Amino acid sequence: MSTLFAFLHHLAAFTLVSALAIEFVLIGQIQTKDATTGEGLSVPVAKRLVITDAVLGAAATILLVVGLLRVVFFEKGSDYYFHSHAFMAKFSIFIAVALLSIIPTREFLSWRKALKAGQAPSARPEKLRLIKKLLHGEMLAIVIILLCAAIMARGGWV
Ligand code: HEM
Repeated sequence: MSTLFAFLHHLAAFTLVSALAIEFVLIGQIQTKDATTGEGLSVPVAKRLVITDAVLGAAATILLVVGLLRVVFFEKGSDYYFHSHAFMAKFSIFIAVALLSIIPTREFLSWRKALKAGQAPSARPEKLRLIKKLLHGEMLAIVIILLCAAIMARGGWV
């Protein structure tokens, strides 16, 4: 069982990182030509972003559920993890990133109405720039999470 959950944990983590990278590339493809309307956001790119963000959300949810199950049932026990600074850092960063990612998710979800009507949604350039910065931050956070994961698994930084 522990092997299955370790596998699921890694699968969800790799999916999450891939979706994040795809979002980053897609956001970079949007040319904000018009300062007020955000013209340049095409239907295919907007659609891909909405789908990729849904995959990212699903992967993050699975990661959280599977991660918590590993903490409580399958690895070193919750007492060990909740007394590990490395785990607490990893967990706190994960929650902070999840909360921050609400901003891009809300924006992408707001595009669905226009996309259903076959139109390119309009997004404000400042919003797109903010989302780009957030995605950058999320990628940096993943690097720190990976470092914390390696440390906590080996009993370091307690
Ligand atoms: C982006 C999010 C995450 C990434 C990239 C990630 C990545 C990893 C990696 C690579 C390992 C293997 C470490 C090693 O054996 O060297 C690991 C282990 C683990 N992770 Fe995560 N993880 C994430 C989120 C979470 C969350 C949210 C939880 C719990 C709430 C969690 C709980 C665990 C546990 C319990 C282990 C086993 C550690 C051990 O062997 O003692 N992870 N994680």
